[in-house]
Amino acid sequence: MKGLILAGGLATRLRPLTWVTNKHLLPVYNKPMIYYPIESMVKAGIKEVLISSSSNHAGHFANLLKDGSDFGIRFYYAVQKNPKGGIANAILLAEEFAKGEKLMVILGDNIFNTDLKTSVNALEKKEKGAIIYGVKITSDFQQYGIIETDKFGKVISIEEKPQNPKSNIAQTGIYLYDKRVFDFIRKLKPSFRGELEVTDLNNMYLKEGTLECKVLNWWIDAGTSHDELLHANNLVADKVKNNDI
Ligand code: DAU
Repeated sequence: MKGLILAGGLATRLRPLTWVTNKHLLPVYNKPMIYYPIESMVKAGIKEVLISSSSNHAGHFANLLKDGSDFGIRFYYAVQKNPKGGIANAILLAEEFAKGEKLMVILGDNIFNTDLKTSVNALEKKEKGAIIYGVKITSDFQQYGIIETDKFGKVISIEEKPQNPKSNIAQTGIYLYDKRVFDFIRKLKPSFRGELEVTDLNNMYLKEGTLECKVLNWWIDAGTSHDELLHANNLVADKVKNNDI
């Protein structure tokens, strides 16, 4: 399985910080934000990771991360031309890189401590399917994809930023896909906000009955606002001191 970390977008909500550099290179406690998803990939046994960013500040990633040997893996870089193309649009950038292998995608501002190795092993054994991760939330339902499940944890629906959320489980930015993911993305139509939505992609797997959802204990979406970034810094500082990350 190969890895893709999405670190594109313009992060206008974090200006003036993001005039200086890309959001995913801003500090979260003692490391640049992107270190967290990278370390999750390393822990999961992924050896080759493509990092996609937008063209402004793209060189900053190579300056910091170089060839990946500091992490014991190999990095490749891609530039997403349309920084508002959507998450599914950015995933398409990994088609040549994936070379027919399965793909783990993590959004570059996602921080969590769950080991993804079990999911990697499970999906590697299957020909078809996708695994996504959710987390229980208590507020800001309209900011996320919302995953409705039955009492056995089987996904019933996923709705992007719904007005009337059907559950308290938010879709995180951790997705594992089989090799057909690129063919599925090519069938997607832009949403009302003009993006190719990851929720629409995941719903294609749901429709064919091959989508699995796991629920994380905790998860931080570090890059949505100045307050979220501050919250992420404080929470990660606590977790580092308690050996919980
Ligand atoms: O954070 C989890 C949420 O991420 C999910 O609950 C939603 O279902 C999913 O659609 C997504 O929500 P947002 O629309 O709020 O994602 P956002 O635009 O904030 O982008 C998330 C990350 O993906 C961000 O760190 C930058 C990267 N990205 C995003 C877009 C739109 C790219 O690399 N390229 C893109 O075109």
